[in-house]
Amino acid sequence: MIKETDFLVIGSGIAGLSFALKVADVGKVILINKTTIDESNTKYAQGGIAAVTYEPDNLKKHIEDTLIAGDGLCDKEIVEMVVSEAPAQIKQLIEWGVKFDQNEKGEYNLGKEGGHSENRVLHHKDNTGEEIQNSLVNRVKNHKNIEELENHFAVDIITQHHLGKLVKRSHNNTECYGAYVLDLKTDRVNTFLSKMTIIATGGTGNLYDTTTNPKIATGDGIAMVYRAKGIIENMEFIQFHPTSLYNPGEKPSFLITEALRGFGAILKTTDGKKFMNKYDKRGSLAPRDIVARAIDQEMKITGNDYVHLDCSHLDAVKLKNHFPNIYEKCLSLNIDITKDPIPVVPAAHYMCGGVKVDENGASTINKLYAIGEISSTGLHGANRLASNSLSEAIVYANRAAEDSVKRLNQITINKDIPEWDSHETTYPEEMIMITQNYKEVQQIMSNYVGIVRSNLRLERALRRLEIIYKETEELYEKSILSQQLCELRNLINVGYLILKMAQNLHESRGLHYSIDYPKKGNISEF
Ligand code: FAD
Ligand code: SIN
Repeated sequence: MIKETDFLVIGSGIAGLSFALKVADVGKVILINKTTIDESNTKYAQGGIAAVTYEPDNLKKHIEDTLIAGDGLCDKEIVEMVVSEAPAQIKQLIEWGVKFDQNEKGEYNLGKEGGHSENRVLHHKDNTGEEIQNSLVNRVKNHKNIEELENHFAVDIITQHHLGKLVKRSHNNTECYGAYVLDLKTDRVNTFLSKMTIIATGGTGNLYDTTTNPKIATGDGIAMVYRAKGIIENMEFIQFHPTSLYNPGEKPSFLITEALRGFGAILKTTDGKKFMNKYDKRGSLAPRDIVARAIDQEMKITGNDYVHLDCSHLDAVKLKNHFPNIYEKCLSLNIDITKDPIPVVPAAHYMCGGVKVDENGASTINKLYAIGEISSTGLHGANRLASNSLSEAIVYANRAAEDSVKRLNQITINKDIPEWDSHETTYPEEMIMITQNYKEVQQIMSNYVGIVRSNLRLERALRRLEIIYKETEELYEKSILSQQLCELRNLINVGYLILKMAQNLHESRGLHYSIDYPKKGNISEF
């Protein structure tokens, strides 16, 4: 089957949904996602969305905090642009129906998180993401120009390669004509032809065995763009969130928001000793890379599987009111956070690098935009400042919408694209080939390419990943496509990019910390 549209949007998190709403009055939109429209990383966001609203905060401070967190690798002009444009886009979210908590005077309640010098995080209790996701989904469902298709798994971006032409990463004339998409209900691969393709497939947390990300986060977009010869960058900067709930067996790991530390919660060892001031004068509210490494170090020193986050000194009524979901979740495990410390461990959380894009979200492949977590815009550098990703997603959804709408009339749909060729393939005989390799990839990445790395660990990881890569490619060549096989293949691809980029960085910076290149300054203890 062939489908045609003006805008093909792949992914229905904050980035894809906002983009669809911005362009739907101008052209027809097909919005696809691989599970259901309401499932995404966005839905699980807790802390909130960072932007300057009231004094004493100002743009300069937010810019400065973002640059400091990014450890010298942010693009200053992009940081200035995103921070300046975020307030207007948050206003747009509010007009679309998103509700943020307000005080009795009608002012927004602003939370604080690691690395922020002011309170600037707008939030809805401790389930900001769900509030955003639901509001945008409602609006999308009511727009007659948006066709949303669930259980549609994008397999590959279509380029000149599919017309038998040579496509190279060094060329600047590669064009995107749409995508091949697996309909998970019929098992058929259909051809979606579009004037503009927008890839908003989010991150890749499932490369690691402990992650805050839901199952959908398997780096599909990165792998697709890489295979299509787009440029990918900064993949070594994988952000581990310092505090996910220690509850062995639970997947994804339940997040304990950083806003709780902004509210006054303190990290302690299991015997009740504060430790963060040993590592950074900002204590429990230092930027994430520093806190995650400190926890990792303390767990190694003590041999414990977790550290504690203590809220017992905080006002119990206010605590329950601001963090009702965390309170309930912990209570279901017999942890009363008003009295008992919460056991926490770091978990893979966010991908700072991704598809290289310009200031409008355009990738290096013509007519292909990448927005949201999948993109590498220059905002985050070597470490993302907390709650900056939702702001980045809405700013870039807006910019990509304006830019693509301007170019739409000059573009015609390419009708020469062949349909997906699936001849001589069969169903894999044993799923264990896929599931075992999936687990092995997670173990390799967690043990060798985690919070603290070394040259030897990276080399070992690469050797092991190469074996799994070969086995998986052989299976892929002869198998009828399945979501599991595609996701495994994509994860291997993304793991390879992280490893190669980590090997090329001969220093410790931000989220990439190698014991072979110890960093000077107040984190040298690591
Ligand atoms: P997502 O929201 O992840 O959406 C991706 C979409 O792509 C989904 O619809 C998925 O189905 C679809 N998709 C993926 N692959 C395919 C495919 N092959 N074919 C078709 N569809 C596909 N950031 C903040 O700024 N503040 C916070 O408080 C915050 N809290 C967080 C808490 C948690 C637990 C997590 C996991 C993340 C948090 N983040 C937070 C990060 C932030 O939520 C994400 O970076 C952001 O929501 C990503 O949005 P997105 O639209 O790019 O992708
Ligand atoms: C959190 O609430 O701690 C997550 C915030 C983020 O990832 O930006």
